[in-house]
Amino acid sequence: MAFTALVLAAGEGTRMKSAHSKTVHPLLGKPLVAWPIEAARAAGADRIVCVVGAGKGEVSAICERLGAEVVEQAERLGTGHAVRVALEAAGIDDGCVVVLYGDTPLVRAETIEELASEVSEGGLPGAVLTMAPEDPTGYGRIVLDEAGHILAIIEHADATLEQRKALTECNSGVYAFDGATLARLVREITNENAQGEYYLTDMVELMRDEGLSVGRVFVEDASEMLGVNSRSQLAEATKAMQRRINARLMDAGVTMLDPDLVWVGPDVKVGQDTELWPLTFLFGETTIGKGNVIGPNTRLTNVAVGDGCRLEETVALESVIEDGATCGPRAYLRPGTHLMPGAHVGTSVEIKNSTIGEGSKVPHLSYIGDTTMGSGVNIGAASVTCNYDGSKKHRTTIGNDVFIGSDTMMVAPVSIGDGAITGAASCITKDVPAGALAIERTDERIIEGYAARRAARMARES
Ligand code: UD1
Ligand code: CA
Repeated sequence: MAFTALVLAAGEGTRMKSAHSKTVHPLLGKPLVAWPIEAARAAGADRIVCVVGAGKGEVSAICERLGAEVVEQAERLGTGHAVRVALEAAGIDDGCVVVLYGDTPLVRAETIEELASEVSEGGLPGAVLTMAPEDPTGYGRIVLDEAGHILAIIEHADATLEQRKALTECNSGVYAFDGATLARLVREITNENAQGEYYLTDMVELMRDEGLSVGRVFVEDASEMLGVNSRSQLAEATKAMQRRINARLMDAGVTMLDPDLVWVGPDVKVGQDTELWPLTFLFGETTIGKGNVIGPNTRLTNVAVGDGCRLEETVALESVIEDGATCGPRAYLRPGTHLMPGAHVGTSVEIKNSTIGEGSKVPHLSYIGDTTMGSGVNIGAASVTCNYDGSKKHRTTIGNDVFIGSDTMMVAPVSIGDGAITGAASCITKDVPAGALAIERTDERIIEGYAARRAARMARES
């Protein structure tokens, strides 16, 4: 069921007290404005037009990246004005048009679909999404006729005390309209009201005046329409979305020790029998397989994890972790890391742009960068691939079954052949052939009786 979605996002967002536009603030890793855009697309929108304020380049960039058209509303004269500007600039005057908001991230695709179908399939020229919030202050109030169609929407500022008390059903601000009717009547909206704004809600009365009926879809879960105008509302919306996502994951067979302490972005996939321990953050396009234990204290962004892995106190970005690999505590996998099956990255280890081969281990206090490592390798504690010469990065190649002694410095570009060994504390600057030992250290000297002589000297001098 195709329709056009308008996403109004020209709000100033002054209550966010931010150097950034309100709708670029992320909720579970995704900018606010991206949520209604993606919900509209999932509901079947074939065209999405975002209305942004003047000079709001950062909002426009996000909308365009998501395939939406952008229309600038130079002056913010009200929701009716914003819709008129959008329709005129984008040349929309037919089909079904759904109005959404850039700061209302929790609206579900199914809700949008249900509303749009009232118009595109139910044959109504317009339908309003309504709700009954616990505190209706600030919302437009719905006036119904006997048939259950909407007679009028009275803005909170324009309502009498009696109306504010009696009318508990509120306007969510989300509507579906027949595009031709909307394009024609939106021009007739005036700004003669308490706020001196062009109210989109006036569409209802304009349609009623022409004998057109306006339907309604009541949304049970008022949190879907939670608008974000402040940092506390952002936290509230994040909490509501976190609950929704975590409930879905638990229903699908994911264990959470405490779902209040697990944050999972909307595009993340987690397989069955995976356990998510507290303070785990999974963002971006992260995918996690089955039977893993992730956390505590772990953040993964755009990471693919196979099955049966154990990641503890791990931060990983743009990386691949294959089946049975283990990480942490305190592992840092930077972009381009690839852990092959059964690889182990241990305590206080950083890996960047490197492949750690099957079953290979980097257990303690090491840095591996720009390295290709074969299988069955053991890297001794505190070893470093010295990949940077001050101006360029260079690669290190380590073959299969190599044993790197503790505190080996591998100065790239350098390669270490299959089965080779390096002595502890060696600085390796030359390629090491397969099966060889490379050792770089001065001979150890033994000076007998030195400690007693030193103690005697210190006693004399004090
Ligand atoms: C609107 C509805 C109200 C409803 C409420 C639900 C109107 C007149 N009122 O009130 O009935 O209960 O939403 O939240 O529509 N915007 C623009 N350009 C503008 C004006 C607004 O893009 O010129 C966008 C803003 O991003 C803003 C959103 O539309 O966040 C809502 O506009 P606002 O004027 O704040 O309407 P509400 O008072 O929330
Ligand atoms: Ca040395």
